[in-house]
Amino acid sequence: MIGILGASGYIGQSFISELIRQNVSFREYSREKHNYYDLKSLIDIIHTDGLSILINCAGYTGKPNVDACERNKNACYQANVELVRVITTACALADVTLLHISSGCIYTGDNDGKGFTEEHEPNFHSRSERKGSFYSDTKTLAESIIHSAWEKSYIARLRIPFDGVDSPRNYLTKLQKYEKLLEAENSISHRGDFVEACIHLLKNKAEFGIYNIVNSGAILTSQVVELLKEANLLGSYEMISEEEFYKQVKADAPRSNCILDNSKLINSGFNMRTSQEALRSAIDELKQQKESPVKE
Ligand SMILES: NC(=O)c1ccc[n+]([C@@H]2O[C@H](COP(=O)([O-])OP(=O)(O)OC[C@H]3O[C@@H](n4cnc5c(N)ncnc54)[C@H](OP(=O)(O)O)[C@@H]3O)[C@@H](O)[C@H]2O)c1
Repeated sequence: MIGILGASGYIGQSFISELIRQNVSFREYSREKHNYYDLKSLIDIIHTDGLSILINCAGYTGKPNVDACERNKNACYQANVELVRVITTACALADVTLLHISSGCIYTGDNDGKGFTEEHEPNFHSRSERKGSFYSDTKTLAESIIHSAWEKSYIARLRIPFDGVDSPRNYLTKLQKYEKLLEAENSISHRGDFVEACIHLLKNKAEFGIYNIVNSGAILTSQVVELLKEANLLGSYEMISEEEFYKQVKADAPRSNCILDNSKLINSGFNMRTSQEALRSAIDELKQQKESPVKE
């Protein structure tokens, strides 16, 4: 049986839809009903519900954006580091496979155009040359806790999620709302593709470890903007450079822009779409919804 922590969130909900679609049984947990910060309670949940896999989608991402993590460091640390310590310990004690959602934002840059593999050390945190955000610090720490404490773990790195469903968490919705758009090249993850890839790793008992789960091929903000414009989904906006972004936008947290290499995932047998393909299908869905909205 699969258990999902943080099931009410943007990524948790996508796991639920995909598991239902694949007819896989699961149990979902929320802080409201389950005290999964407490080690004993979490181990009790695992035993009572007969869990063999725990997917950790719980975390503090900062709302409306990552700047909130700089202002609420304690909450961010508790959810992204201390909770991960409890979850990892519970999984190790109960011999349960852990799949933890991490982030690509622990990197900055493109590794000379080659992208960062899972073997590269994170380079965007408080101890790196280019100082990262507090959020990226917590995600880096969580990875090292899991890596050192429980070998039956998958660390699934997500990067700039998007799909064809309007949501304040969807990258494509954000681009339509922001007045100033930062020109940068990034790897991105279609939310459904990401979740399918995670389930593929679990179902196929892929080698444990870290996986960069991004669509193939990095993309520039201006390329995404062109696709949105073609679909008549973009109004007025101003494209600005990274330098201008930090001058014009009051940002508490430095932003990561990075390219990840997804060959390890592809070599595990998962057929990942290109960023262009995934973007085009998501934008088509958004366009259809705009042209014929579902009546309540
Ligand atoms: N969205 C992104 O852009 C993005 C990008 C890269 C990586 N990630 C990672 O993906 C994971 C899921 O993110 P998401 O976008 O689904 O976030 P989300 O929509 O904010 O959902 C996170 C879930 O975590 C639980 N949660 C929130 N605050 C918590 C706290 N202080 N302590 C414990 N649990 C808390 C909540 O579940 P309950 O209230 O039901 O317990 C919530 O539903 C996170 O680890 C995040 O770092 C997200």
